[in-house]
Amino acid sequence: MKTKLSLLLAASISFSAVAVADDQAMMEAAGKELFNKCSACHSLDESKNAFGPSLIGVVGRQAAALPRFAYSDALKNSGLTWTDENLRKWIAGNDDFVPGTRMRHVEITDKAEQDYLIAYLKTLK
Ligand code: HEC
Repeated sequence: MKTKLSLLLAASISFSAVAVADDQAMMEAAGKELFNKCSACHSLDESKNAFGPSLIGVVGRQAAALPRFAYSDALKNSGLTWTDENLRKWIAGNDDFVPGTRMRHVEITDKAEQDYLIAYLKTLK
């Protein structure tokens, strides 16, 4: 009886660990889908700046930090670091957050969608 119970317990613990991992993978996949709104301008090739700067490693990076990209003065002078919170504000309305930015207006205000996109950006290393 006791063995049966602990087996059951072990099973339910590993089940919830799988559920968490699935959640993460699900969020990243949903974020990848949303990134279609960005990929016209942001290349996933680290050596390449397209119309926008490369976003490889952007999470935690200082704003306007890539040497070979012609950023706007607005972004260069923003003093921002791309934390989760700042990325959230940026994708919710980049030109309200940093007036004068060269990036065309994006507006993703759904918090879950913001979470997905940020989860995906974190995979870009
Ligand atoms: C129409 C082209 C375009 C689209 C679409 C676009 N971006 Fe941008 N992005 C830019 C440009 C241009 C810059 C540089 C802005 C500046 O210098 O003011 C930029 C800058 C950024 C930065 C700051 C990078 C750095 O090195 O500081 C982030 C983060 C970013 N974009 C995320 C996104 C995300 C996420 C999306 C999709 C929701 C997106 N962008 C869609 C053109 C675009």
